[in-house]
Amino acid sequence: MDKLAQRVRELASQRRAVILAHNYQEAAVQEVADFVGDSLELSRKAAATDAETIVFCGVYFMAETAAILSPRKTVLLPDLQAGCPMVTMAPVEAVRQLKAKHPGAIVVTYVNSSAAVKAESDICCTSANAAQIVAGLPADAEILFVPDQHLGAYVSKVTGRKMILYPGCCPTHAAISPADIAAARAAHPGAPVIAHPECRAEVSELADEVLSTSGMCRFAATSPARVIIVATETAMLHRLRKENPGKTFVPASERAVCPNMKRITLEKVAWSLEDMRYVVTVPEEIRVKALRAVERMVQERAPNAN
Ligand code: 13P
Ligand code: SF4
Repeated sequence: MDKLAQRVRELASQRRAVILAHNYQEAAVQEVADFVGDSLELSRKAAATDAETIVFCGVYFMAETAAILSPRKTVLLPDLQAGCPMVTMAPVEAVRQLKAKHPGAIVVTYVNSSAAVKAESDICCTSANAAQIVAGLPADAEILFVPDQHLGAYVSKVTGRKMILYPGCCPTHAAISPADIAAARAAHPGAPVIAHPECRAEVSELADEVLSTSGMCRFAATSPARVIIVATETAMLHRLRKENPGKTFVPASERAVCPNMKRITLEKVAWSLEDMRYVVTVPEEIRVKALRAVERMVQERAPNAN
């Protein structure tokens, strides 16, 4: 462990802090974390930890979700500019307008959303449990799915449920093209393609499996394939390679880099712990409303989840 990583670990124990890192964090940040996981796993860890402080190495909505679940803990985000464009695409006013057009509809909201939008929702989901949540809704319900149109379209396809889709998306995943998949397959004949459901439908349709990042880890561990093509944010490959040293992982596109996830660096994690910044909080009236939807998300089991 290098000096800076050691310093981060010392500060974490002085502050009684737990460091949670998303699978899309750069390798050095993943290596210093107490736990690395997908959005659902990290939300559950944030809710369950008895640490006084949570340093969230991810983007703003993830820290905000931790603050919704654990209002008495101090939640730190090492860089306040680490946002998510999909969240920005769905301002609460637009979601209220959509709800007003469909009174009585059930609002299913992807965790990649603001606390205010979560507060307008009936239930939240992540990419790991979205299909189970939608499949469990009453058969005659009208469903609004907010804000990721691609995850929504994928869930609609696998569950057979019609949904009204909010037109948001992830620019990082939307940048992966069918031509990228074709080129990767041509370069690695026989290698299976695993894709995140934030990818466009024409990419997901070409994949062998469509999986959340935790699902990708399970697939990599159990698949007999020696080479696997991965259509998601490229930092995911660090964990896949580390956990599966005998296998080769190829990014479907080197361009699939989330600049917001990359705003978190080891230096910023150290500064965050030194100065106890930046504290993420949610106004109590919004938090209480959002909590109902987030608790339902955390309680819903993902298939094969640990
Ligand atoms: P998850 O697999 O954690 O849902 O990752 C998707 C993502 O883009 C998080 O921002
Ligand atoms: Fe948002 Fe996409 Fe980055 Fe995830 S990968 S934080 S959805 S922009």
